[in-house]
Amino acid sequence: MKGVILAGGTGSRLYPLTRLMNKHLLPVGKYPMVCYGIDRLRQGGITDILLVISKQSAGQYTDFLGSGAEFGVSLTYKIQEAAGGIAEALELAKGFILPGERFVVLLGDNLFMDDLTPYLKQYLQQPQGTAKVLLKPVEDARRYGVPVFDSQNTGLIAYIEEKPEHPKTKYCVTGIYMYDEAVFDIIRRVSPSQRGELEITDVNNIYAADRRLSYDVLKEWWSDAGTFQSLYEAGEKLKNTLP
Ligand code: DAU
Repeated sequence: MKGVILAGGTGSRLYPLTRLMNKHLLPVGKYPMVCYGIDRLRQGGITDILLVISKQSAGQYTDFLGSGAEFGVSLTYKIQEAAGGIAEALELAKGFILPGERFVVLLGDNLFMDDLTPYLKQYLQQPQGTAKVLLKPVEDARRYGVPVFDSQNTGLIAYIEEKPEHPKTKYCVTGIYMYDEAVFDIIRRVSPSQRGELEITDVNNIYAADRRLSYDVLKEWWSDAGTFQSLYEAGEKLKNTLP
Protein backbone atom coordinates (compact mmCIF):
# COMPACT_ATOMS: atom_id res chain seq x y z
CA MET A 1 0.00 0.00 0.00
CA LYS A 2 0.97 3.63 -0.47
CA GLY A 3 0.30 6.63 1.77
CA VAL A 4 -0.91 10.15 1.05
CA ILE A 5 -0.70 12.97 3.60
CA LEU A 6 -2.75 16.06 2.81
CA ALA A 7 -1.02 19.12 4.20
CA GLY A 8 -2.40 21.92 2.03
CA GLY A 9 -5.06 24.36 3.24
CA THR A 10 -4.67 27.70 4.99
CA GLY A 11 -4.75 26.83 8.69
CA SER A 12 -6.86 29.92 9.35
CA ARG A 13 -7.95 28.72 12.80
CA LEU A 14 -4.29 28.94 13.86
CA TYR A 15 -3.67 32.55 12.74
CA PRO A 16 -1.39 34.40 13.39
CA LEU A 17 1.10 31.52 13.74
CA THR A 18 0.12 30.13 10.34
CA ARG A 19 0.94 33.46 8.68
CA LEU A 20 4.55 32.59 9.43
CA MET A 21 4.51 28.85 8.99
CA ASN A 22 2.27 26.20 7.46
CA LYS A 23 0.06 24.50 10.06
CA HIS A 24 1.60 21.07 9.53
CA LEU A 25 5.10 22.36 10.28
CA LEU A 26 4.15 23.83 13.66
CA PRO A 27 5.90 22.18 16.60
CA VAL A 28 4.25 19.23 18.32
CA GLY A 29 6.67 18.04 20.97
CA LYS A 30 10.13 17.86 19.39
CA TYR A 31 8.98 17.57 15.77
CA PRO A 32 6.87 19.39 13.19
CA MET A 33 3.29 18.09 13.16
CA VAL A 34 3.64 16.32 9.79
CA CYS A 35 6.29 13.93 11.17
CA TYR A 36 3.76 12.09 13.31
CA GLY A 37 1.64 11.07 10.30
CA ILE A 38 4.78 9.92 8.49
CA ASP A 39 5.72 7.85 11.53
CA ARG A 40 2.27 6.22 11.74
CA LEU A 41 2.47 5.24 8.06
CA ARG A 42 5.98 3.85 8.45
CA GLN A 43 4.85 1.84 11.46
CA GLY A 44 2.02 0.42 9.31
CA GLY A 45 4.60 -0.73 6.74
CA ILE A 46 3.94 2.13 4.30
CA THR A 47 7.12 3.80 3.09
CA ASP A 48 6.07 5.22 -0.30
CA ILE A 49 4.37 8.48 0.67
CA LEU A 50 2.98 11.46 -1.24
CA LEU A 51 2.86 14.75 0.62
CA VAL A 52 0.42 17.33 -0.78
CA ILE A 53 1.60 20.75 0.38
CA SER A 54 0.85 24.39 -0.37
CA LYS A 55 3.32 26.36 -2.46
CA GLN A 56 4.05 28.98 0.24
CA SER A 57 6.00 26.60 2.42
CA ALA A 58 7.32 23.98 0.01
CA GLY A 59 10.96 24.87 0.72
CA GLN A 60 10.52 24.44 4.45
CA TYR A 61 9.12 20.94 3.94
CA THR A 62 11.99 19.82 1.74
CA ASP A 63 14.55 21.49 4.07
CA PHE A 64 13.30 19.47 7.00
CA LEU A 65 12.14 16.19 5.46
CA GLY A 66 14.31 15.94 2.34
CA SER A 67 13.83 12.62 0.54
CA GLY A 68 12.39 11.07 3.69
CA ALA A 69 15.39 8.72 4.05
CA GLU A 70 16.19 10.01 7.54
CA PHE A 71 12.65 9.03 8.55
CA GLY A 72 12.77 5.61 6.89
CA VAL A 73 10.40 6.53 4.03
CA SER A 74 10.48 7.77 0.44
CA LEU A 75 8.67 11.08 -0.08
CA THR A 76 7.10 12.52 -3.22
CA TYR A 77 5.78 16.10 -3.10
CA LYS A 78 2.89 17.73 -4.95
CA ILE A 79 1.73 21.31 -4.71
CA GLN A 80 -1.90 22.29 -4.15
CA GLU A 81 -2.02 25.80 -5.63
CA ALA A 82 -4.94 27.05 -3.52
CA ALA A 83 -7.03 25.55 -0.72
CA GLY A 84 -9.80 24.10 -2.89
CA GLY A 85 -10.83 21.41 -0.41
CA ILE A 86 -9.67 18.06 0.89
CA ALA A 87 -11.03 16.14 -2.12
CA GLU A 88 -9.25 18.55 -4.48
CA ALA A 89 -5.99 17.93 -2.63
CA LEU A 90 -6.64 14.18 -2.83
CA GLU A 91 -7.15 14.38 -6.59
CA LEU A 92 -3.49 15.36 -6.87
CA ALA A 93 -2.61 11.78 -5.86
CA LYS A 94 -3.84 10.55 -9.25
CA GLY A 95 -0.74 9.33 -11.05
CA PHE A 96 1.05 8.54 -7.80
CA ILE A 97 -1.47 5.74 -7.23
CA LEU A 98 -1.15 3.11 -9.95
CA PRO A 99 -4.05 1.00 -11.25
CA GLY A 100 -4.82 -1.79 -8.78
CA GLU A 101 -3.02 -0.09 -5.88
CA ARG A 102 -4.66 0.72 -2.57
CA PHE A 103 -3.71 3.57 -0.30
CA VAL A 104 -4.39 5.31 2.98
CA VAL A 105 -4.98 9.05 3.23
CA LEU A 106 -4.14 11.02 6.37
CA LEU A 107 -5.20 14.60 6.94
CA GLY A 108 -1.96 16.27 8.02
CA ASP A 109 -3.48 17.75 11.19
CA ASN A 110 -4.77 14.40 12.45
CA LEU A 111 -2.59 13.02 15.24
CA PHE A 112 -3.16 9.63 16.79
CA MET A 113 -1.60 6.78 18.76
CA ASP A 114 -3.17 3.70 17.13
CA ASP A 115 -1.02 1.40 15.03
CA LEU A 116 -2.71 1.39 11.59
CA THR A 117 -1.62 -2.17 10.73
CA PRO A 118 -4.84 -4.05 11.67
CA TYR A 119 -7.07 -1.50 9.92
CA LEU A 120 -4.97 -1.67 6.75
CA LYS A 121 -5.15 -5.47 6.80
CA GLN A 122 -8.95 -5.38 7.12
CA TYR A 123 -9.23 -2.92 4.26
CA LEU A 124 -7.08 -5.12 2.01
CA GLN A 125 -9.69 -7.87 2.49
CA GLN A 126 -12.52 -5.64 1.28
CA PRO A 127 -13.64 -5.88 -2.37
CA GLN A 128 -12.12 -3.61 -5.00
CA GLY A 129 -13.91 -0.25 -5.31
CA THR A 130 -14.86 0.01 -1.63
CA ALA A 131 -13.57 2.47 0.98
CA LYS A 132 -13.01 2.53 4.72
CA VAL A 133 -12.92 5.34 7.28
CA LEU A 134 -11.81 5.34 10.90
CA LEU A 135 -14.02 6.87 13.58
CA LYS A 136 -13.52 8.14 17.10
CA PRO A 137 -16.08 9.01 19.78
CA VAL A 138 -15.80 12.73 20.64
CA GLU A 139 -17.38 15.06 23.20
CA ASP A 140 -18.65 17.59 20.69
CA ALA A 141 -19.21 16.07 17.26
CA ARG A 142 -20.53 19.32 15.76
CA ARG A 143 -17.18 20.38 14.32
CA TYR A 144 -16.60 17.14 12.42
CA GLY A 145 -18.05 14.79 9.85
CA VAL A 146 -20.51 12.62 11.79
CA PRO A 147 -21.45 9.09 10.60
CA VAL A 148 -24.94 7.63 10.67
CA PHE A 149 -24.83 3.84 10.69
CA ASP A 150 -26.63 1.39 8.49
CA SER A 151 -29.72 0.31 10.46
CA GLN A 152 -29.12 -3.39 9.76
CA ASN A 153 -25.85 -3.34 11.67
CA THR A 154 -23.80 -4.35 8.66
CA GLY A 155 -20.60 -2.54 9.62
CA LEU A 156 -21.36 0.03 6.92
CA ILE A 157 -21.99 3.76 7.14
CA ALA A 158 -25.36 4.88 5.70
CA TYR A 159 -24.30 8.52 5.32
CA ILE A 160 -22.12 11.23 6.86
CA GLU A 161 -23.27 14.69 7.91
CA GLU A 162 -20.58 17.36 7.78
CA LYS A 163 -20.53 19.59 10.88
CA PRO A 164 -24.19 19.01 11.82
CA GLU A 165 -25.96 21.28 14.33
CA HIS A 166 -27.49 18.20 15.95
CA PRO A 167 -25.18 15.19 15.53
CA LYS A 168 -27.04 11.88 15.28
CA THR A 169 -24.17 9.87 16.80
CA LYS A 170 -21.28 10.64 19.18
CA TYR A 171 -18.67 9.65 16.59
CA CYS A 172 -16.53 11.77 14.32
CA VAL A 173 -15.10 10.60 11.01
CA THR A 174 -11.37 11.10 11.53
CA GLY A 175 -9.08 12.19 8.72
CA ILE A 176 -7.94 8.60 8.09
CA TYR A 177 -9.40 7.20 4.86
CA MET A 178 -8.65 4.11 2.75
CA TYR A 179 -9.32 3.93 -0.98
CA ASP A 180 -8.22 2.43 -4.26
CA GLU A 181 -7.93 4.24 -7.58
CA ALA A 182 -11.75 4.20 -8.01
CA VAL A 183 -11.80 7.27 -5.75
CA PHE A 184 -10.51 9.48 -8.56
CA ASP A 185 -13.63 8.77 -10.67
CA ILE A 186 -15.77 9.54 -7.64
CA ILE A 187 -14.02 12.86 -6.99
CA ARG A 188 -14.90 13.85 -10.57
CA ARG A 189 -18.60 13.40 -9.71
CA VAL A 190 -18.44 15.87 -6.80
CA SER A 191 -19.23 19.60 -7.16
CA PRO A 192 -17.87 22.43 -5.00
CA SER A 193 -19.80 22.97 -1.75
CA GLN A 194 -21.31 26.27 -0.57
CA ARG A 195 -17.89 27.30 0.75
CA GLY A 196 -16.38 26.58 -2.69
CA GLU A 197 -14.47 23.44 -1.73
CA LEU A 198 -14.50 19.84 -2.99
CA GLU A 199 -15.56 18.09 0.22
CA ILE A 200 -14.22 14.69 1.27
CA THR A 201 -17.57 14.02 2.94
CA ASP A 202 -19.32 14.29 -0.44
CA VAL A 203 -16.87 11.73 -1.82
CA ASN A 204 -17.44 9.38 1.11
CA ASN A 205 -21.20 9.81 0.82
CA ILE A 206 -21.10 8.47 -2.74
CA TYR A 207 -19.43 5.33 -1.38
CA ALA A 208 -21.95 5.19 1.48
CA ALA A 209 -24.95 5.48 -0.85
CA ASP A 210 -23.58 2.50 -2.82
CA ARG A 211 -23.09 0.54 0.44
CA ARG A 212 -19.35 0.59 -0.13
CA LEU A 213 -18.17 2.52 2.96
CA SER A 214 -17.03 0.46 5.94
CA TYR A 215 -15.68 1.77 9.23
CA ASP A 216 -13.71 0.88 12.29
CA VAL A 217 -13.19 2.76 15.54
CA LEU A 218 -9.77 3.94 16.76
CA LYS A 219 -8.94 2.51 20.16
CA GLU A 220 -6.36 4.98 21.38
CA TRP A 221 -5.92 8.76 21.63
CA TRP A 222 -6.76 10.86 18.54
CA SER A 223 -6.96 14.59 17.88
CA ASP A 224 -7.04 17.03 15.01
CA ALA A 225 -4.64 19.76 15.94
CA GLY A 226 -6.61 22.46 14.18
CA THR A 227 -7.09 24.79 17.17
CA PHE A 228 -4.64 26.29 19.67
CA GLN A 229 -6.12 24.19 22.46
CA SER A 230 -5.83 20.90 20.57
CA LEU A 231 -2.35 21.83 19.27
CA TYR A 232 -1.17 22.40 22.84
CA GLU A 233 -2.73 19.15 24.08
CA ALA A 234 -1.20 17.18 21.21
CA GLY A 235 2.25 18.55 22.07
CA GLU A 236 1.88 17.36 25.66
CA LYS A 237 0.54 13.96 24.66
CA LEU A 238 3.09 13.20 21.93
CA LYS A 239 6.23 14.88 23.27
CA ASN A 240 8.04 11.64 24.06
CA THR A 241 6.65 9.38 21.35
CA LEU A 242 9.32 10.04 18.70
CA PRO A 243 13.08 9.66 19.41
O1 DAU B 1 -10.20 16.04 11.30
C1 DAU B 1 -11.32 15.36 10.87
C2 DAU B 1 -12.26 16.24 10.05
O2 DAU B 1 -11.50 16.80 8.95
C3 DAU B 1 -13.45 15.43 9.54
O3 DAU B 1 -14.28 15.02 10.61
C4 DAU B 1 -14.29 16.23 8.54
O4 DAU B 1 -15.29 15.43 7.99
C5 DAU B 1 -13.38 16.77 7.41
O5 DAU B 1 -14.13 17.59 6.52
C6 DAU B 1 -12.23 17.59 8.00
O6 DAU B 1 -12.78 18.73 8.60
P1 DAU B 1 -11.95 20.06 8.93
O7 DAU B 1 -12.85 21.23 8.96
O8 DAU B 1 -11.14 19.83 10.17
O9 DAU B 1 -10.96 20.18 7.68
P2 DAU B 1 -9.86 21.29 7.39
O10 DAU B 1 -10.38 22.26 6.39
O11 DAU B 1 -9.34 21.85 8.69
O12 DAU B 1 -8.69 20.44 6.70
C7 DAU B 1 -8.07 19.38 7.37
C8 DAU B 1 -6.75 19.05 6.69
O13 DAU B 1 -6.95 18.76 5.30
C9 DAU B 1 -5.72 20.14 6.74
O14 DAU B 1 -4.93 20.00 7.90
C10 DAU B 1 -4.94 19.98 5.47
C11 DAU B 1 -5.87 19.26 4.52
N1 DAU B 1 -6.38 20.16 3.44
C12 DAU B 1 -7.51 20.91 3.66
C13 DAU B 1 -7.99 21.74 2.66
C14 DAU B 1 -9.24 22.57 2.87
C15 DAU B 1 -5.69 20.22 2.25
O15 DAU B 1 -4.66 19.54 2.07
N2 DAU B 1 -6.17 21.06 1.26
C16 DAU B 1 -7.29 21.82 1.41
O16 DAU B 1 -7.68 22.55 0.45
